[in-house]
Amino acid sequence: MILITGGAGFIGGNFVLDWVGLNNEPVVNLDKLTYAGNLQTLQSLQGHPLHHFVQGDIADRSLVSALLAEHRPRAIVHFAAESHVDRSIHGPGEFIQTNIIGTYNLLECARAYWSSLPSSEQAAFRFLHVSTDEVYGSLAPGDPAFSESNAYEPNSPYSASKAASDHLVRAWHHTYGLPVLTTNCSNNYGPFHFPEKLIPLMIVNALAGKPLPVYGDGQQVRDWLYVKDHCSAIRRVLEAGRLGETYNVGGWNEQTNLDIVTRICALLDELSPSADGKPYASLITHVADRPGHDRRYAIDARKIQRELGWLPAETFKTGLRKTVAWYLDNTDWVRNVQSGSYRDWVQKNYAERQA
Ligand code: NAD
Ligand code: TYD
Repeated sequence: MILITGGAGFIGGNFVLDWVGLNNEPVVNLDKLTYAGNLQTLQSLQGHPLHHFVQGDIADRSLVSALLAEHRPRAIVHFAAESHVDRSIHGPGEFIQTNIIGTYNLLECARAYWSSLPSSEQAAFRFLHVSTDEVYGSLAPGDPAFSESNAYEPNSPYSASKAASDHLVRAWHHTYGLPVLTTNCSNNYGPFHFPEKLIPLMIVNALAGKPLPVYGDGQQVRDWLYVKDHCSAIRRVLEAGRLGETYNVGGWNEQTNLDIVTRICALLDELSPSADGKPYASLITHVADRPGHDRRYAIDARKIQRELGWLPAETFKTGLRKTVAWYLDNTDWVRNVQSGSYRDWVQKNYAERQA
């Protein structure tokens, strides 16, 4: 079996759903259920014999050690993190705690468990750390895309905490021999994406007739990948990645934020026209920029293609259409995650940004 952390979140949830659909191997899913974790994402797995959910913190060593001893996983896939840049600006403490201390605790539990295994199981064991392209910092317009050998230059509390966790994972391999793999992926989008991030926020705001808040000039560039493609990359790295290596994962799909929002509006105009007949793009509102906002991310994904034969299956055109359609079909999920704490966050982040 494998142990997943953060499997009630956006990417971890998609990973667990796909894993159970594709493999006959059980998953233990350890998730603290922060505001970003939603059991409704995993509703289709209720009572499923291959999925075992445990609510808990990766920083709780006795819990993690007990889970490892009980279930004896052949791999740990580590998604759990605080993941939203804007929240890291308002309150970095949780990011230091989960992304750095939490990863450190998980590594220590993994090391103790792995050291206790018989040599054949030790050789087969993997610790796969899921990270982000944001650790590399920001690119100027003509710069080449991030490769695995780029220097780390994180700019936000979020990316700095992820960079620190990547360094810990690397050190646990070099110093203790823990068999680790790291993936650094670009921005994901797709089903079950919490509507605090750009794409789902714009979809749910547009459908509610609310302003579409574009930070600054909206010319920041991100490299977007459909979440199921990220999951397939992680499965491939888990299966065949070289120990101690990092793999950049991306969709060769750079888009400005304003282009993204405009495309979402056009899809909604087609699939769910507004009641007043106005185009959704009329809701676009430029608001105060994010402090320290990275201008451009782009991923050079040639290594994972060359070494492991991985390529994304979805184009941005097909992926974005599927995503918008998913949000239109899953209004219950959206309503459920828009709890009181979600409304508090929206108030906190956007009230002070009025253009
Ligand atoms: P998310 O915020 O949607 O989900 C995070 C999950 O981790 C939640 O279910 C939450 O409850 C859980 N969690 C948080 N703290 C925990 C703790 N201390 N113990 C146990 N569980 C805890 O995040 P996501 O977008 O699914 O990202 C997953 C991973 O992928 C993160 O490590 C993130 O850095 C990385 N990543 C994300 C993106 C992206 O575009 N979203 C891109 C590249 C890499
Ligand atoms: P986000 O989805 O938060 O991902 P990240 O910051 O990790 O790349 O934001 C994506 C881009 O969209 C980023 O440049 C910030 C911008 N953005 C807005 O313009 N408005 C918004 O309301 C949000 C949430 C993000």
